[in-house]
Amino acid sequence: MATWLPLLVEEDLPSEPWQSAEIQLEVVATTQSFRHLARCRPQPSARILEVGCCFGQCTVLLASKAMEVLALDTSKECVELTSARLKEAELTDVARSLRFDMLAHPELLRILAGCSPPFTVVFADIGGNRELTHVLELLQLLSSTMPHLRYVAVKSEALASELQKAPVNLQEYIKWWEEFCHHVRPVKVRRRRMQQILQHPVRRTKEGTEICRFANYGTCSKAPSECRYDHGHCHRCLQPGHWAMDCEVTEATHEKTEAMATYSLCSEVAEGLFAALRAGGREYLFLKEYNIVIIDSPSLGLSRHRWIQYGPAVIRGVLRHLDIDQVSVFSMGLGSVIFHQILAETPHLLSHTHIVYNQDIADLKSFPFEAYDVEVALRDHDIQIWTIYNDEDDEDPQAYSRHSKGPARLSEAFTKMQADLRCSLSLRNHCGTQRAMEKIDIGCNLAGLQLSCCILNASGPRTNTEQQLMDIARSSSGALCSKSATLEERSGNPQPRYTEIQLGDRTASINSEGLPNKGFAAYSDSSFLQRLKECSEPHGKPYIFSISGLSLKENLEMLDRLAESPDVLQHLSAVEVNVACPNVPGKPLVGYDFPQFAEVVQTMSRHPLFTKDCVLGFKLPPYLDAPLFDAVAKMLNEIALGRGGALGYVVCCNTLGSALAVDIETETTVLHPKGGFGGLGGQLVRHLALGNVRHLRSRLDDSIHVVGCGGVATGEDAFAHILCGATAVQVATQHRVEGPQCFERIASELRELMQRKGYTQLEDFRGKLRVRESKL
Ligand code: SIN
Repeated sequence: MATWLPLLVEEDLPSEPWQSAEIQLEVVATTQSFRHLARCRPQPSARILEVGCCFGQCTVLLASKAMEVLALDTSKECVELTSARLKEAELTDVARSLRFDMLAHPELLRILAGCSPPFTVVFADIGGNRELTHVLELLQLLSSTMPHLRYVAVKSEALASELQKAPVNLQEYIKWWEEFCHHVRPVKVRRRRMQQILQHPVRRTKEGTEICRFANYGTCSKAPSECRYDHGHCHRCLQPGHWAMDCEVTEATHEKTEAMATYSLCSEVAEGLFAALRAGGREYLFLKEYNIVIIDSPSLGLSRHRWIQYGPAVIRGVLRHLDIDQVSVFSMGLGSVIFHQILAETPHLLSHTHIVYNQDIADLKSFPFEAYDVEVALRDHDIQIWTIYNDEDDEDPQAYSRHSKGPARLSEAFTKMQADLRCSLSLRNHCGTQRAMEKIDIGCNLAGLQLSCCILNASGPRTNTEQQLMDIARSSSGALCSKSATLEERSGNPQPRYTEIQLGDRTASINSEGLPNKGFAAYSDSSFLQRLKECSEPHGKPYIFSISGLSLKENLEMLDRLAESPDVLQHLSAVEVNVACPNVPGKPLVGYDFPQFAEVVQTMSRHPLFTKDCVLGFKLPPYLDAPLFDAVAKMLNEIALGRGGALGYVVCCNTLGSALAVDIETETTVLHPKGGFGGLGGQLVRHLALGNVRHLRSRLDDSIHVVGCGGVATGEDAFAHILCGATAVQVATQHRVEGPQCFERIASELRELMQRKGYTQLEDFRGKLRVRESKL
C-alpha cells in the first residue's frame, strides 16, 4: 500500500488531487465533503464501485457523472432503498445496487476486478465513523486486487482525524503512513463482530435520531452522552427501555442468514457474480480460479432423461479429450444434477469450489445420484459448493423459486447434508489435516452428563429469551444453559447496565444486569423444552437449568416444582445453582457468606430431585485467598463424602464483583445501577478463573467436577482451563460479543491445538499442568 498515500481533504477541495502517487486517495471526515467529492471527481468515462451506498444519495450523484456505478452495501434494506432512488432518478441504466459484504467475500471482489473494462474509481463509506481497521483493511484489499484503480475517495472520521496528526514533510509523511498501516492491523474477532453489527440497517427513533447499532448489538465505545446516536431505544422493535440483544421480537431474516451462511450465497451476490461475468469477468474466472467448460449438446439437451443418463459421461469424455484433470464447475438448473452425479461418482475430477445456480431436478422421480455419496465426496475431498437461488421476492411470476418442487427437493437434501458437514466445512481451510482433526475427541463426561463438545455457554449473556436459547441449541455448544431464573420474572436493573473494555482483540466486560429473566415457568415449560430439543437434533444436548432464587426458600420451591413435573424432568439434565451474582441490590452474595452458603449447599444437595438423572451444580464466585479455597472445598467435599447429598460440579467462576467503569469525559460512572459497580468478566478475569479452577480442582473430591468459566475467547483459553483441571468450559463474554458461532470456532481452535500437540482426547492433558519450581 506504499503508493496509496492518503490526502486529507478538509474544508477546501483542491482542484488537483494528490500528485505524487500512482493512485489518488482522498480522505474526508464528513458526508458533506464526501458528496462534494462525488460531484467533482468522477470523469464521464469512470466506472465506479461504491462501497457502502447506504440510502443511495451519493450513488445518484455519482451516477449522474459517470459511465457506470456499481453500488454495494451489506444491508438488504439499504440496497433496496438505493435501487428505488436510482429508479426515481431514472438512472438504472447507469447504476445498480447489490447486497455484498466486500470484507466477507473478497473472492467476489476479485471477480469484479477482472471485469472489462475495469473499475477505475472507488467511493467508500463503510462502518459509520468508527472502525479504522476496517477502512485500512478495505484499502489493502482494493490495492491488492484492483490494479486498474486510479482514484479512491474514503469517508472516515477516524482516518481523517489520524491524518490530521500526520507530519507535513512528504518524506516523513510517507514513513509515518507506512508505519501507521503496519500498526493498525485488522483484528479478526472484532472484524467478524463489526460485520455482524453493520448488517443491521440504520434505524431511527420516532423523533428521527439514528439508533446506535453498536450499543444495541454489542457495546458502544462511547458513553451515551458522548455518542451522537441514540442509546435509549431498541434497534429491533424501536421501543425504549431495552436493547436489541434483549428484545423478544424475532428478526425475520436472522435465521435465514445464519442458515445460509455456511455454503450458500444470497441471490444478490449471485446477481453480482453474473454482472461480473457479463462485464467480462469470464476470462478472469477461467484464468484464475474457475475453469468454465461449456459443453453444447443439443440433441441430448432435448430430453431431460437422456441428458441425465448420458450427460455425466459426455462431460467426463470431453474433459479427458481436453486433457483437463480437474475443473471447478459453474452449473445451473438441470445441469447441477449432472454435476452432483459426477461429484458422487468421480469426485477426484473436481477441484475445490463450485457454484450451482438455481439447481433443479425438475420432474425426475428420484435422484440419479446417492445423496450420501455426495456428502461423503464433499467431506472427503474438501469440496465446497456455493448454491445460489433467485431472490424469493422477485416480482416475476416465471422467476425461479427455491420453493418450487425440484429446487426444494434438492435444497432439502442439501440442508440435511449441511447439518452433517457443518463441522468439517469450518475446517475446510485445513484440508490436509482434516481427517486427522475429525479423530480428535473434545467430548467429555461432566458428572455423568455426556457432552459431545466440552465448550458450552455460560448462564448469562444471550440466554434470556426463547430465541437466544434456540440459537444456542442450534449451535455447537456442548450443552444448553439457561439464564439464572428467579421464581418470578424480573426485568433486572435499569440501563445502561453493561459495558465492554476492548483489550486488543480481546474483550472484557462489566455487567450489572441484576438477573433479568423470564421467570422459572418460562425456562421449565415442557413444550418449549421439547422445541429446544428438536433444535438440537440429531443428538440433542443436555439442558442445564440455572436458578438463582432470591432466598433458599425460593430455590427450594423451584426444585420442588421441577421434581413434581415428569414432563419437564425428561428434558432436564442438571440444575445449576448460581450463588455468585453480585448485581442484585440489597442481596449479598451467598457464595461469600459461608454459614449461609453451607446451609444452601447442604439443604439443596439433599433434595430428592438430585437422583442420578439430574445433576446438581453450583456456580461459584471467584475466591482470592488459599484459606477460602480450603473452606469451600471442605464444605463441598462433605457432601461428596457421603453426608446424604449429591453434587456433580462447580463452575469456577462467576464475575468478580465491585468493578467500576469510569467515564473520564463526563466524570460519571458508565453503568447506572448499584452506584455504577458491576461484575468484571471476560479477558480481565481469565487468569483469576484459571487460578480458581486449579485451586479447587486440587482440593475437591474427584467426584465433584470443575467447569472453567472466565475469559474464554479462543481454543487456547479452553485448553488452559482443561490443563488446570476443568472438565468442561463455559463461555460468557465472548458469547455475548460474537454470538453462538463462537462455540464452533473455539471448538475447532481447540482441536487444532490438540492436533498440533498430538493429543486425541481431553484426558491426554486434563489437569496435567506442570509447576515450574526454581531450584535455590
Ligand atoms: C446478572 O444477571 O446480574 C448477571 C448474572 C450473574 O452474575 O450471575
